[in-house]
Amino acid sequence: MAVEMQVVAKFDEIFGSEGKKEIFFTPGRVNLIGEHIDYNGGYVFPCALSFGTYAVCRRRDDDIFRMYSMNFEKDGIVEFSLKKLIKTDVWADYCKGVIDTFIKHGYKIEHGADIVFFGNIPNGAGLSSSASLEVLMGTIIREISGLNDKVSMIDIVKFGQEAENKFIGVNCGIMDQFAVGMGKEDKAILLNCDTLEYDYVPVKLDGISIVIMNTNKRRGLGESKYNERRASCEAALKDIQEAGKKINHLCDMTMEDFEEVKKYIKSEEAVPRVRHAVSENVRVLESVKCLKENDIEKFGKLMNGSHISLRDDYEVTGKELDAIVAAAWEQEGTVGARMTGAGFGGCAVSLVKNEFIDEFIKNVGEKYTKETGLEAAFYVANVGDGSRKLGEC
Ligand code: GLA
Repeated sequence: MAVEMQVVAKFDEIFGSEGKKEIFFTPGRVNLIGEHIDYNGGYVFPCALSFGTYAVCRRRDDDIFRMYSMNFEKDGIVEFSLKKLIKTDVWADYCKGVIDTFIKHGYKIEHGADIVFFGNIPNGAGLSSSASLEVLMGTIIREISGLNDKVSMIDIVKFGQEAENKFIGVNCGIMDQFAVGMGKEDKAILLNCDTLEYDYVPVKLDGISIVIMNTNKRRGLGESKYNERRASCEAALKDIQEAGKKINHLCDMTMEDFEEVKKYIKSEEAVPRVRHAVSENVRVLESVKCLKENDIEKFGKLMNGSHISLRDDYEVTGKELDAIVAAAWEQEGTVGARMTGAGFGGCAVSLVKNEFIDEFIKNVGEKYTKETGLEAAFYVANVGDGSRKLGEC
């Protein structure tokens, strides 16, 4: 049975089958290159995946939401009124945050809904399960509130980020919500995170696949470290601006600029953080050029360079990501490999020649287990479309 039909069956079981139901889907994402620079005004290069979060929804006449997640069955039905949106530390907070953001932006939300969710993105693996839920909720609210011609997908993307920043308290950038909202089949998105200008670049690679490697090490302390890194970039930017350099973001600098201004950065620890931000931005632009010129080997080398910079300068990898990426680098048929997402565990991404994929999975899996005692999971990624309504039933 197709995934969405399983969710419909669960909906009927929990909330009853009567009335019109709508089915929605929002993907997860993988970032090919451009890590930890969305909040530094840099370029990123993510794509949406074919797996993600599904929702079956029936609008209600009152202002009550009843939500159920097939991924968190022990939480049961989470019920709340749209007049009382309070964080309660369950998965539904992401949904509440998005509804709250719509209301704060002046949109009239009058209807609640019964909704069943199901996601096949591994949680906490750095493939944006939370951004997927936020943008999904935004897509649902827009539809059930009759706002399709007033709220664009880019508005939903921004509301998703705002919900995560203000309601959830994670100071994330715009990349994840943008990728899952605006993704396109077989295309990666080159996104300028300062201006939100974007371009779709084909990533259907001849004889090469995107293989996602899940370390199965959950991010854990990742969120506080994430906010710490962001704060340290902001402080360094302030130091550089106060020294008279006219920039709005760290990624406005070239490597030469960085060499010139690094003496103004007051915290010694922040110097390599800034070097990462500047060098990663340069790598993204080079990567896209390589892809357009079909120079995949060089693209792979830039991915490797990105991992090294995240490991040594930005220090967000950790032993599991380093072990899995190092194992990938050793394999015949690997074009490039790096961590993806926030880091501190979660997933890495690699480009692998098709004829070597089976061997790659076997060898990397064995080596990784030997070094960490953990079992990795592998997914050959299909690049899919962004958030959308799938239909009605
Ligand atoms: C998380 C955040 C994004 C981005 C990445 C790192 O996924 O949500 O905004 O900063 O980490 O590139």
